[in-house]
Amino acid sequence: MSTATKLSRITIPDLCAHKGKEPIVSLTAYTAPMARMLDEHCDFLLVGDSMGMALYGMDSTLGVTLDMAINHGAAVVRGSKRACVIVDMPFGTYGESKEQAYRNAARVMAETGCSGIKIEGGVEMAETVKFLFERGIPVMGHVGLKPQSLHTAGGYRSQGRDIDAANKIMADSKAIADAGAFALVIEATVEALAREITEAIDIVTIGIGASSACDGQVLVAEDALGMFADFTPKFVRRYAEIGNAIEEAAASYAKDVKARTFPGPENCYGLKKK
Ligand code: KIV
Repeated sequence: MSTATKLSRITIPDLCAHKGKEPIVSLTAYTAPMARMLDEHCDFLLVGDSMGMALYGMDSTLGVTLDMAINHGAAVVRGSKRACVIVDMPFGTYGESKEQAYRNAARVMAETGCSGIKIEGGVEMAETVKFLFERGIPVMGHVGLKPQSLHTAGGYRSQGRDIDAANKIMADSKAIADAGAFALVIEATVEALAREITEAIDIVTIGIGASSACDGQVLVAEDALGMFADFTPKFVRRYAEIGNAIEEAAASYAKDVKARTFPGPENCYGLKKK
C-alpha cells in the first residue's frame, strides 16, 4: 500500500498558499445538508460557535458545549467532500491550560474528522497555540471582537478604534502567528488595522466585518442567507432572503391544509386510481 495518501479535501497548506493571492472563501455550516450546499463554493467551512445563536436560539455563544461542537462538526464533515472543515472550540474548553486545550482539541479532531480548530485570544493564548501546533493540531486564531469575551468587553462592538487598542490587536496577531497558527480570523476592526495586520504577519487573515483588506472572508451563513433576523451585524451583506421564503412556504402549506386541498395518496407518490 502506498504511504503517500493524497487528501481529497482542500488542506491546511492549500489554505496557507492563498497568502497575498486569491481570497479565501468561507461560510459557517452546522449541519450536513447546509454543508452539502455550501461545499462547492467554500475553501473552508467553519463550524462556528455562532451555532449557539444562529441554530439554538441562545443569546450568546457561551452556552455551546464541546459535545455540540463535536456533533455538528461530524455532521459537516459527513455533508462535505471538498472544503476544509474547521471547528470552533467552545468557551471553557481550552482557556484553562494548554493541556486542557490539547485534550479537548484532540477529541474534536478525532471525533469529527475535521482538519483544524479555532480558538479566540491573543498573547495570552500563544503558548497554547504553540503546544497544539507542535502536537499536530492546526490552529486558526481569532482576534479583534472575540464573542466569547462578550462580558469583559461589555458587548459586541468594533475593536481597535484607538491607538492603544489597535496596538494590542497587532501584538495579539503577531503572537498567534509566531506561535504557529496557520490562519487568523480578524473580527470587527477598521480596514486600516486589518490591512496592517495582513501585511505584518505571514499567515492568512480571514476577515469578518474587517474589510476586504484580509486574505479571505467568513460570514455566518444564516446571516448572509437571510435566515437569522434576531441580530444581524451591520457589515453583513445579505445574498438571499431564505427566511422570508420559508415563512411564505409555511403559510401556503397552512392554507392548503385548512382548505382541505392538501393532496391525498392518489396524487402523491405517483399512485394512480384503477
Ligand atoms: O462562531 C463563528 O461563527 C465565528 C465566525 C463568525 C468567525 O467565530
